[in-house]
Amino acid sequence: MIMYLYHAATSPIDPMPLLTELAALGVVAQLVIVNEKIGQKWLKRAEAGSLLLDDKGQLSLLAHTDSGAVKVSPNWLAEQQRVVKAGKKSELLLKAAKPQAGMHIIDATAGFGHDSLILASSGASVTLIEAEPVMYMLLQHELIQMAQQPNWQKLISRLSLQFGDAAQVLPTLPKADRVYLDPMFPQDSYKAAVGKTMQALHLIAKPPTLEQEVTLLTRAKQQLLPDGKVIVKRPLRAPYLALMTPDDSVSNDLVRFDSYFA
Ligand SMILES: C[S@@+](CC[C@H](N)C(=O)[O-])C[C@H]1O[C@@H](n2cnc3c(N)ncnc32)[C@H](O)[C@@H]1O
Repeated sequence: MIMYLYHAATSPIDPMPLLTELAALGVVAQLVIVNEKIGQKWLKRAEAGSLLLDDKGQLSLLAHTDSGAVKVSPNWLAEQQRVVKAGKKSELLLKAAKPQAGMHIIDATAGFGHDSLILASSGASVTLIEAEPVMYMLLQHELIQMAQQPNWQKLISRLSLQFGDAAQVLPTLPKADRVYLDPMFPQDSYKAAVGKTMQALHLIAKPPTLEQEVTLLTRAKQQLLPDGKVIVKRPLRAPYLALMTPDDSVSNDLVRFDSYFA
C-alpha cells in the first residue's frame, strides 16, 4: 500500500515510525510525497485503501465511495458534542449496555472508536480491539493526538488499544463487565444509505462468516464477569449474530442492540 505524505517539509509528524509499525503489522507501505492541493482531483487519482498523513498531522484512509473520492479518519473531535451529551435517552447503546463508572468494557470490534467513546463517557474503562492494520493505525494515531488535548485527557486515560482478531485477543484480557460487538454486516442490510466512513470501512473489512460469528460471540460470553453481558449491534431487521437468540433487545428505526447475559 501507499502512505501519502502531504507537504513533507512542514509535516508535524515523522512518518517513519508509522511505516515501521505498519511493517510490524505485516503491511509494507511505500512513502509518496504530495505537494499539490488535496482536493477531489487529487483524491480521485490517489490509490484507494492508502493512508494520507496531512500537514496538520491527521492520518486518514483514502477511499472511493458513492459520494466520490473521500478521506476518512476517526476524527474524535467531531464526536465531542455527542460524547459530552451522551446519556441513555440520546444513545441507545447506553440504554442497552448500562455502563457505569469503574466498569471494564471490551469493544471487540473497534472500527473508528466512536462507540468506544460513548461507552467510555460513562466513566467506564474501555479496551478497544481492532483486527485491520490500517484501522488499528488510524486508532492509535488518534489516541496519541487526542491525548494532547487537555479536555480529552481524562477520557483517553480510560482507553487502551489492542491489535488482532478479537477471537484470539479476548481470552488474553482480564474478564469484563461488558463486551461490545459491532462486526461488519452486509452493506445491503442497512435500511438507510451508509455514510462515507462506513463505505470506506467496507473496502477493507469484510462481514464475518457464520462460523466466525459463532466463535466471536462464544469467546465474548466466556470473557464476562458474573452479571456481565455481551451487547451486539445489528441493523434493525438483520438476523441475530451467530443465529443465537439474545436475552434482551432494544431498537430504534435503524439499529438493534441485542444483549446476551453471562
Ligand atoms: C462496523 S465496524 C465498527 C464500528 C465501531 N463500532 C465504531 O463506532 O466506529 C467493525 C470493525 O470491527 C473490526 N473487526 C471485525 N471483526 C473483528 C474481529 N474479529 N476482531 C477485531 N476487530 C474486528 C473491523 O475491522 C472494523 O474496523
